[in-house]
Amino acid sequence: MKESKQIIINIKQLVGILKKGETKLCGEEMNNIYTIENAFLEITDNLISGFGKMEDFQINDQYSVFEAKGKVVFPSWNDSHTHLVFAGTREKEFIDRINGLSYEEIAARGGGILNSANLLEITSEDDLFLSSSRRLEEVMKMGTGAIEIKSGYGLSHDGELKMLRVIKRLQESYDIPIKSTFLGAHALPKKYKNNKDQYINLIVNEMLPNIKEEELADYIDVFCETNYFSVDDMQKVIEAGHKYGLKPKVHVNQFTSIGGIQKAIEWNAVSVDHLEVMSENDFESLSNSDTIATLLPSCSFFIDIPYAPARKLITKNIPFALASDYNPGSSPNGNMNLVNALAAIKMKISPQAAINASTINGAYAMELADKTGSITIGKWANINISSEINSYGFMPYSFGQNHIEKSMIKGTWIN
Ligand code: NIG
Ligand code: FE
Repeated sequence: MKESKQIIINIKQLVGILKKGETKLCGEEMNNIYTIENAFLEITDNLISGFGKMEDFQINDQYSVFEAKGKVVFPSWNDSHTHLVFAGTREKEFIDRINGLSYEEIAARGGGILNSANLLEITSEDDLFLSSSRRLEEVMKMGTGAIEIKSGYGLSHDGELKMLRVIKRLQESYDIPIKSTFLGAHALPKKYKNNKDQYINLIVNEMLPNIKEEELADYIDVFCETNYFSVDDMQKVIEAGHKYGLKPKVHVNQFTSIGGIQKAIEWNAVSVDHLEVMSENDFESLSNSDTIATLLPSCSFFIDIPYAPARKLITKNIPFALASDYNPGSSPNGNMNLVNALAAIKMKISPQAAINASTINGAYAMELADKTGSITIGKWANINISSEINSYGFMPYSFGQNHIEKSMIKGTWIN
């Protein structure tokens, strides 16, 4: 078959260029973003095949040409932590929080994750697929070009498998790369209130073998937190996941620092996510590991908890990704543009650091950094084109508008 060539010309700023082989950025590197002004970008089939300054480009009639005068072109957002498959919403808890209850108090009353699990139980796989497809299409239009999605609202054998099968159907139905994470240990179902070990045994002995048999997951997750799952519980779950080839990507340090980071690193976790509460020892452990931190400012914003210490991570040379945590309880938002703005405004990091954390470092947090996350020859043509703006810094600054005009995933325009 004849190859298809596309060219984007007169790009005001081509942003996020990296050399082949660069898989993540840390420390001061995060504050630098390599950019070409007045650039072109060439795409052959689904891959980036060339780029450079306009003056070095020779037009050829084989190309389909896209004019990007006044526009910024940058790599798609890589959202490495979401719970995008869910049933129903939780506005009632939102009102309860406005009236003074905390996220943890709502959970202690049987709301929160257990509320979502009840809704999921009465929702069919087809309905779940339909609502999740809509959400996925929405975030793709907002510039997300690769995404991780977790289970964790099933909390029963059938419920967890239903969620993971929905994720598999999304993978089969869309071009966007999707990583699937099994989060059976998200909350303890009521039925097991006084018998946590029995629930963990269900995860280990019944859910995991079937998940493996149907090839439903890439990663294993645990909500390691006071009143949820302890470090010992997490050890049992990730050890079992390891036997089935699932690497850990875990929720730790959202409300308390209880040793989850150290345990996750011991098991070579791909990422440790949340980190709103960090001890000195936690920084120390992360700086000696290949595990990437993943920060979720949209969750901090929505449930009004501290923001993760992004600036300190930069000072300590610890790489981090930014992700949306899209879910009905703590972050009903999958818009990575807002995540970038919140990171800049509330975590006080530069727009450059926010973009790097949401592109190349997000790719690293999904083990996709050799395929996406930067403008690099040979990577998937996963890119966003802005409307006419002054520079990439305008995007987090003008935080209330959508500045993405067009998005491309693997060489195909999605809007
Ligand atoms: O990452 N903290 C644990 N899990 C989700 C929230 C889940 C929910 O409230 O439904 C999170 O914030
Ligand atoms: Fe989460």
